[in-house]
Amino acid sequence: MAHIVKILEGFSFIPRKELTLLEALEQENVDMEYQCREGFCGSCQVTLVDGEVTYTTDPIAFIPEGKILTCCCQLNSDVTIEIPGGCKMKKHDL
Ligand code: FES
Repeated sequence: MAHIVKILEGFSFIPRKELTLLEALEQENVDMEYQCREGFCGSCQVTLVDGEVTYTTDPIAFIPEGKILTCCCQLNSDVTIEIPGGCKMKKHDL
């Protein structure tokens, strides 16, 4: 079943099931922080306001209470997330 991602102060969308949350946000042109994309650095962290995710690989980085690492998780339900610094869109060169 498809799940919905709701970004606080942003918008909602339905990502493709096989994508990690980070990949799904990138497909929607959300400007996301990341470095390792493998659960090591913790830079892709967002706040999980509501819902559940499953980790596709066990993250190594410390994950504070209420946060998730978007590079290595997929949706388990509809989720509401808050992106640190707000939801910014990628700028494209014209
Ligand atoms: S990008 Fe490094 S933990 Fe997600």
